Amino acid sequence: MLEEILGAIWFIFPSYVGNAAATLGGGRPLDFGRYFPDGRRILGDGKTFRGFGLGVLGGTFTGALQHYLGSYPNYPYALKLGLLLGFGALFGDALESFLKRRLGKERGTPFPPFDQLDLVVGALLLYYTLGRKILSPFTKLEISSVLILVVLTPLIHLGTNFVSYKLGGKDVWW
Ligand code: CTP
Ligand code: MG
Repeated sequence: MLEEILGAIWFIFPSYVGNAAATLGGGRPLDFGRYFPDGRRILGDGKTFRGFGLGVLGGTFTGALQHYLGSYPNYPYALKLGLLLGFGALFGDALESFLKRRLGKERGTPFPPFDQLDLVVGALLLYYTLGRKILSPFTKLEISSVLILVVLTPLIHLGTNFVSYKLGGKDVWW
């Protein structure tokens, strides 16, 4: 059981790193400041090109590191997987912001547990679509591993936020 938990988290780890790296973003927003027909921003100022790029880079770099540590068959495989999981995380995050804006929630309003799950949903979506095509061998996750990620990711997220709050990096504990 513990092995499966750690395995699932190790698998999705590039998404976590990508998500964290994205917080160093800023500058030009992905939606170029534009508005949707409902009168609200398409994505909002919290989704930027720099954040997206850093997230993808962070994921790819993590994949490389995981191969270096012996987790994957070769570098191309690990880089593709890391890129996919990093890109997927940021894609899921942007998709969630799009939905938040449509629900009238301003940038930064908490929307649990979706704020914490968007990266997992996006990463798995990319893994099961594009990953199936570009990764060989492609291995399906066990349903139990997916459940583990859905349950543990929000908890891990809360934990790391609390640490960064205590260290002074965040203003609120969630
Ligand atoms: N970020 C970024 N570009 C991205 C994703 C995130 O620059 N593509 C940065 C932004 O500074 C953002 C922070 O990471 O504020 C945290 O991301 P998130 O919590 O998803 O954004 P929120 O500000 O809460 O905005 P939203 O309500 O749209 O989720
Ligand atoms: Mg988000």
